[in-house]
Amino acid sequence: MYLLQKNFPLKEKNTFGITVLAKDYLSVESETDLPDFFRKNNSAWHQKRLFLGAGSNLLFVSDYKGLVIQPLIMGICLTSENNYEVEVEVGAGVPWDLFVAHCVEKGWHGIENLSLIPGNTGAVPVQNIGAYGVEADSVIKLVKGIDLTTLEKTSFSREACKFEYRSSLFKVQLKEQFMVTSVVFRLSKSPDFKTGYEGLEHKIDQYGKINLQNIRKAIIAIRQSKLPDPAVYGNAGSFFKNPVVPASVAYSLKNSHPELPVYPIGSGVVKLAAGWLIDKAGWKGKSFGKAAVHDKQALVIINKGGASGTEIFRLSELIAEDVLQKFNIHLEREVQIIGA
Ligand code: EPU
Repeated sequence: MYLLQKNFPLKEKNTFGITVLAKDYLSVESETDLPDFFRKNNSAWHQKRLFLGAGSNLLFVSDYKGLVIQPLIMGICLTSENNYEVEVEVGAGVPWDLFVAHCVEKGWHGIENLSLIPGNTGAVPVQNIGAYGVEADSVIKLVKGIDLTTLEKTSFSREACKFEYRSSLFKVQLKEQFMVTSVVFRLSKSPDFKTGYEGLEHKIDQYGKINLQNIRKAIIAIRQSKLPDPAVYGNAGSFFKNPVVPASVAYSLKNSHPELPVYPIGSGVVKLAAGWLIDKAGWKGKSFGKAAVHDKQALVIINKGGASGTEIFRLSELIAEDVLQKFNIHLEREVQIIGA
């Protein structure tokens, strides 16, 4: 069933907790809802639209004068199983961490390092979420959804999804055109633990032997020690992407700053830590009105309470300008800015 609401308050629908309205807000609970709605509402075709997950990776800088569509399609369904692996189809509206907890309980391996990432499962392939050495595309088999140009159900294999660091076909080429309804994950029944992230093994040791439960506990503890809880301070995780630059640029910067963390990622390019650059530029803990840079992780901007979207956006501009001036590195936002 779908439900259309006018002048809908979005404060509870974005983890920054920004107080804005959507001109129209549509919640959909099944994969037939969206085609039904568009067939019955001609005017909807002329509106700009936004597919909303849990609102954990966007910043509203004004009221949204279009149609916000939120898939609330639920369900976790084991679709195939053999001695080695399982395939599980998960509705776009399922909170991601609920699914991670389910997999850990069932003994299915592959996403334990992605514990506690806020957001709904529908956004997982869009954003190709990643943390602690694991990217979601490593376990995605199929992405299912509705293509709004045809109103038909369409599926994309992993290869067709054009996954990149925090990006995909759905975020770029099919933006505003394709709504994810479910994601099929392929998970292993045997361990292939990824514990290379600095400090992770040590943290796991504190909980006992290495297994799914203890990795999940360790990841949760690490995240909680660095990242603010959106229920306390509104935020959207990393505000910027880690910049990818030519190796020559990275190593010349490392000459002047030997402690700069560098992550070679092949073919002559290197990923830098945006958090380090912002921290080194002196922004950690700094406030700008009711917005601030988190005091434990400089890559995160927080809403101290009652901040406007433009205030947070302005702070991000000041940070990016300063990092450019100090290090000659251009920071790209990971958070999507949603305007009028
Ligand atoms: N650093 C600092 N100061 C800071 C923050 C970081 O010096 O204020 C340094 C750290 O000491 C470390 C390096 O920068 O040497 C990298 O920091 P960290 O390991 O905390 O990870 P990150 O690169 O800042 C990325 C993801 C996070 C993910 C972590 C762990 C991006 C944009 N961010 O952060 O993802 O949780 O790695 O894997 O890729 C998110 O996307 O919302 C997110 C939180």
